[in-house]
Amino acid sequence: MNRRQFLASGSALALLPVPALAGQNPFRLKAEAVTQQVLPEGDGATSMLGFNGSMPGPELRVRRGERITIDVENGLQEGTAVHWHGIRLENMMDGVPELTQEIINPGDAMTYSFIPPDAGTYWYHSHYISHEQVARGMMGPLIVEDETPPDVDHDITVLLSDWLMQEDGSLVEDYADMHSVAHGGYMGNFARAFLSQTQVRLGDRVRLRLINAATNRIFSIAVSGVSGRVVALDGMALAEPGPLAELLLAPAQRVDLIVDITGPVGFDMTTRQGPYRLADLTVEGRNETRQDGAILPLAPHGLPRPDAPTQHLTLTMMGGAMGGRHGGDNIWAFNNVSDLPQDPFGRFQRGETVRMTLVNDTSFPHGIHLHGHHFYEVADDGALGDLRDTTLVHAGESRDILCVFDNPGRWLLHCHMLSHATGGMRTWVTVA
Ligand code: C2O
Ligand code: CU
Repeated sequence: MNRRQFLASGSALALLPVPALAGQNPFRLKAEAVTQQVLPEGDGATSMLGFNGSMPGPELRVRRGERITIDVENGLQEGTAVHWHGIRLENMMDGVPELTQEIINPGDAMTYSFIPPDAGTYWYHSHYISHEQVARGMMGPLIVEDETPPDVDHDITVLLSDWLMQEDGSLVEDYADMHSVAHGGYMGNFARAFLSQTQVRLGDRVRLRLINAATNRIFSIAVSGVSGRVVALDGMALAEPGPLAELLLAPAQRVDLIVDITGPVGFDMTTRQGPYRLADLTVEGRNETRQDGAILPLAPHGLPRPDAPTQHLTLTMMGGAMGGRHGGDNIWAFNNVSDLPQDPFGRFQRGETVRMTLVNDTSFPHGIHLHGHHFYEVADDGALGDLRDTTLVHAGESRDILCVFDNPGRWLLHCHMLSHATGGMRTWVTVA
């Protein structure tokens, strides 16, 4: 799977739910060192980073259109900043050192406050030395509830990640190893999912919100013991729920399912060696009252449809191992430039629709993330595809996207394989 043998699967995982902080807006998030039982109970606990004493950090929940205020305190020995991934928020709340804010120094605090315009499944994570701080645990779910939530018995967050650990549970402190940066990125030898709730009944209808919080791993997930539909991608409701098959999640991507419980529920990652259990959902008792009905679409998102594009830009991913030469001075580059250039890759007028061709001229897949906006993937036949904030482009392939740039400010555009981002695959755009 990687240069190390994958550690044994975590089927005997401690039932450790993601702590909830519902109804405590304004929230207080303290970034700090934590000790967490990540490996199965009985194996060593892991010294890592987290928020409010836990990894993942607490689940933040707010209603669509309601202001959320989060006081972030930095209890670390180093600087940090927190990004609210996928939220179309005001630029100055985006949490990006170099573009939107100063670093929060140790002992300092910063208040983030914004009104999430869209319901859906989002997450927060460190955006400072993120290939390392996220790998060490600085992540948590951010859920924006619909005004009219779907009719389900439970709403469960499933946060996926992986960690590179010794047998005793300590992290291997080698986050910027050049070999992995030039290949698929720092990858764990142990993976699991953290669930916000661990028990359901047979016959329950459940919303599952899967979040890939791993720094570099693309998860291919099979969920057993359920039948249902895919209802949202990267937070945004699908107009028509899609079939539930194997789920492919690039780093930072989310998928929401609505499913009926038909048996013991397992979340398995597909690996070359076979399925690897990430989490179980205990099934006890039976729901006698639920009437099976069709799984309906979630409330529609309110994003503008793209107009005819006024600009067509090409962003070519370059570099890495087995890649060609390029003009940048780091391992990876976009259009021959590594790391954040002085000048933006694109300058847009507010409301402008832009087409971008993302060309993957490397030997590795990349998950390209745009801040502050969602964009449409364009199918080969030109049809508008899914609305996403992160799109997976496989090695040697390309993808067109269409984006209505309607959020003013300076926005990052980067590979969300965080090793690739630190290895140079970052640029930015500006919307006036
Ligand atoms: Cu999820 Cu630039 O971030
Ligand atoms: Cu990448």
